[in-house]
Formats: sequence, structure tokens, C-alpha cells
Amino acid sequence: MRRRTVIAATIVALLLVACTAAAAAAALTISKKNQHRPASESSGGSCDMFAGAWLADESYPLYDSASCPFVRGEFDCRRFSRPDKQYLKYRWQPSPPCSPPRFDGLALLRMWGGKKVMFVGDSLALNQYESLLCMLHAAAPDARATVSPRSGRIDPATTVTFDEYNVTLVYYLSHYLVDIVSEKAGRVLKLDKIDEGRNWLGADVLVFDSWHWWPRSGKDQPWDYIQEGSQVAKDMDRTAAFTKALNTWAGWVDANLVQTSAKVFFQGISPSHYRGKNGAPRRGSRARGRRSR
Ligand SMILES: *[C@@H]1O[C@H](CO)[C@@H](O)[C@H](O)[C@H]1NC(C)=O
Repeated sequence: MRRRTVIAATIVALLLVACTAAAAAAALTISKKNQHRPASESSGGSCDMFAGAWLADESYPLYDSASCPFVRGEFDCRRFSRPDKQYLKYRWQPSPPCSPPRFDGLALLRMWGGKKVMFVGDSLALNQYESLLCMLHAAAPDARATVSPRSGRIDPATTVTFDEYNVTLVYYLSHYLVDIVSEKAGRVLKLDKIDEGRNWLGADVLVFDSWHWWPRSGKDQPWDYIQEGSQVAKDMDRTAAFTKALNTWAGWVDANLVQTSAKVFFQGISPSHYRGKNGAPRRGSRARGRRSR
């Protein structure tokens, strides 16, 4: 990211993204604009959350997905009979070692009172959104949550409000962060346009991710042309396109969020999660009818 806005990229080394649970939301570490601050500074210690490793921790997971109402079928490995559980038992251990505070869902709900937290991105963002909802639900199982729309539809956005805490969590579907516009010639991926960002304003915490859809081609590619400025092409180097889009996004953050108190995070990228080797739902098999996000 070229600008002074500091969006520290959290490398979310999720081994099996479709099946991650506690690790996911716990990996949402902290980047405050214009400063690289150790995540747990406020709690006394000094932790660099951005370097470390996943360690097995038998006290995990932080929630049981079987009793969480927010896990969508495509991520619900337990419901689809994945037999092993070890993948749920990982904790991020910063290096050099330090002790970040353990996740405390009730404390987080209280701290976030009156706030809106928004995840913008692809299935990785959705995954982490649902994990966080489940972690909060496990901490406050009797708290009433209002889901909107009630159908659970996520395109373009879905919202869950923990009513008595007045905490709102939004997932906003965006595969590319930048806009795709339907024009006469077809669907155009606009590398320098992010008008959709108007829907993200007003959030107190914003968590973004992208990349997973950038290398897609053929029928998995939801656009026909790619445009930057007045140049329209059928295709281009995808890494270069992604870089341009991220610069557009960073510019949008600079122009719209730097002067606000919003906290901005950028997650790492998600690997493909339909290999299905370990029992995860596979496209065309158990997950038939569900689109990979
Ligand atoms: C909930 O939070 C919003 C935004 O901060 C605030 O405007 C509203 O008054 C709060 N509602 C309650 C019932 O506290």
C-alpha cells in the first residue's frame, strides 16, 4: 500500500478456510490508521500480532458450530460429517512470544456497544464474519440477535444486531472491492472505480479482503471486460490488475476514512477451499447449488 494510511496486512494463514472456526476471528488483529501499534498495548503487554505461528491448543475451539445459528451450510464442516476436529484447535502464537488477552466475547460486545462492524469481501470475509458471530453468540447465548434480511440472503449484504448490546455486524459481499458495472458491451470490472464504497461508510470497524476471485477465468469469472481509465481490455495480468484495484481501494480509504475514527483492517488472502480432500464440502457434491463466494 503506497500511502501513509497504514493497513497492516494480516496474514491469515488459514489452512482450511472453509472449515476454520475460532482461529479465524481471533486472527483479526489490529491495525489502527497511521500507526503500527502492538495489539495488546492497552492491556499492558507488548505483542506484535503480525508475526507468529499457529499452535495446537486443546482448549479451543471457542464455539461449537453445531449450536451456532450463524454458520452457513457451505462452511459447516461438522454438519457435513467432517470426522476430524484437530483443525478447530489452533491458536495464534505471536513471535516473540507474548500473551495477548484471550478472546472475551462479552467484553467485546460491551466495548462495541452502539457500533457497527463491517466485513467487506469474499468467502474469507464471510467465513470470519460468521466465526466472529459464533464467538459472540457463544459468549452471550441468550442475547437476542436480529438477522436482516430474514432470508439470510447475503447478496449484497446481511446484518446481525445483538439487540441489547446495540452491536451491529454486517457482511458486505464484494469479490473484487472495486466495481463491476453492467454496460451494453457486457460486465466491466473497473479497476479505478469503487462507488460501492458509499455503502461501507458509517461503519466503526471495517475488515476487507480480496484476491480469491482475481485469478478466475472462464465461467467462474463474473466479468467480461476489464477497464482502467479509458482503456478497456478483454483481459490483463491478474496480479497487476489486483495491484491497481488495491491502490484504488487504498485511495478510497485515504479519502474517506483517514479523517474518521473508523478502524480499518485488511485480511490476507484465502486459498482455494473446495479441494474437499479432508471432507470439506466440495463444489458439485454436497455443496451443490451453493455458489462459492
Ligand atoms: C445504538 O447505537 C446507535 C449508534 O451509536 C445510537 O444512535 C442509538 O441511540 C443506540 N441505541 C440504543 C438503544 O442505545
